[in-house]
Amino acid sequence: MKAIAVFASGSGTNFEAIAQACADGRLQARIALMVCDVPGAPVIARAERFGIESFVFNPKSYSGKAAYEAEIVRLLDAHDIQLVCLAGYMRIVGPTLLQAYGGRIINIHPSLLPSFKGAHAVEDAVAYGVKVYGITIHWVNDQLDGGQIIAQRAFPYEGSDPAEVHRQGQVIEHQLYVETIAKLLQ
Ligand code: GAR
Repeated sequence: MKAIAVFASGSGTNFEAIAQACADGRLQARIALMVCDVPGAPVIARAERFGIESFVFNPKSYSGKAAYEAEIVRLLDAHDIQLVCLAGYMRIVGPTLLQAYGGRIINIHPSLLPSFKGAHAVEDAVAYGVKVYGITIHWVNDQLDGGQIIAQRAFPYEGSDPAEVHRQGQVIEHQLYVETIAKLLQ
């Protein structure tokens, strides 16, 4: 069973979809580690419910990104992690983590990249007035939301409510992330 890590900063619905797929046997993998940079984030309780080990850290307690990423690399190595899945991890991956795990880190982003990079993709797309939204899964490199695209799925929406785009997008995310991780681990 291949060991994967999931990184999250908030709610963790994607984390839960992946954990549930592992538990059901739809995904032949084990989440060996959940990494969270926001103490108190709801994803932490989700990991506890699944009995998944967490590394929760406060970036402000470290001298900088290199210091906390060195700690993360040590934990990923210790758990023999094959694939790192960013799932709402709202931090830019730095050189320390990229040097150690580059080519093994993927991210899910709530837009059809290369449109609407960054932390407010859905709000930016709604403000722009687009009529087709989507989800992208891509390799992580040193460019913000700029690595090679692995999978995309689009959906039409003609309204102007960002919450509705998030809702429809998350249904797709939960399926697409599990399917994509399964393919990559094959
Ligand atoms: C997801 O919709 C993901 O696409 C987005 O954060 C959400 C996390 O939801 N990621 C980004 O915006 C990255 N730039 P979750 O915590 O419920 O999985």
